[in-house]
Amino acid sequence: MVIKIRKLKKEDKPALMDILHNTPEFTADEVTIAEEVIDGSLDNPGKSGYFSLAAENDEGVFTGFISYGPVPMTQYAWDIYWLAVRREFQGHGVGAALLKAAEENIVQAGGRMAFIETSGKAQYDKTRRFYLTNDYKEICDLPDFYAPGDNKVIYQKILG
Ligand SMILES: CC(C)(COP(=O)(O)OP(=O)(O)OC[C@H]1O[C@@H](n2cnc3c(N)ncnc32)[C@H](O)[C@@H]1OP(=O)(O)O)[C@@H](O)C(=O)NCCC(=O)NCCS
Repeated sequence: MVIKIRKLKKEDKPALMDILHNTPEFTADEVTIAEEVIDGSLDNPGKSGYFSLAAENDEGVFTGFISYGPVPMTQYAWDIYWLAVRREFQGHGVGAALLKAAEENIVQAGGRMAFIETSGKAQYDKTRRFYLTNDYKEICDLPDFYAPGDNKVIYQKILG
């Protein structure tokens, strides 16, 4: 499958919202927050501190996106905020390609480490395995952070 990674454009917004609404892992609150981050990256990445990339296939179908940005008050730490791949395109390397492109952009912008936070709940098992496969190391597991029985797990990758 051809995977093209490019900057996210305003015209992508409906397809992106469709992915968010059809990703069972995301709650309604998470979709709202993700939309704010995405709008910030579309309006003014420099000012908002949010950047987004899109993935599309050879037919121009929007297959996924990633949003990331520098962590305020740090020298070179960056956060990966949101990453999602349209369900029918999962498991074909789109997520890995988005992550790799974001990491390259982070390094070009002077970043040296990337952080990803996710839930410890069973429904995120596949997501957490995906991070480990992509060379992220689990560095922290905060018990009951999101809710009783719902830990926050933090992953880090040293980029350069
Ligand atoms: C997590 C997520 C972004 C991963 O995206 P993806 O495109 O499915 O990821 P990849 O295809 O790169 O990798 C997933 C699996 O497919 C396998 N894979 C990679 N390239 C492949 C290919 N060309 N053909 C077949 N399988 C492939 C990988 O080995 C990996 O398997 P593993 O985890 O058992 O090692 C996606 O599953 C998703 O959107 N999940 C829901 C939302 C979410 O949890 N987002 C993260 C929190 S913000």
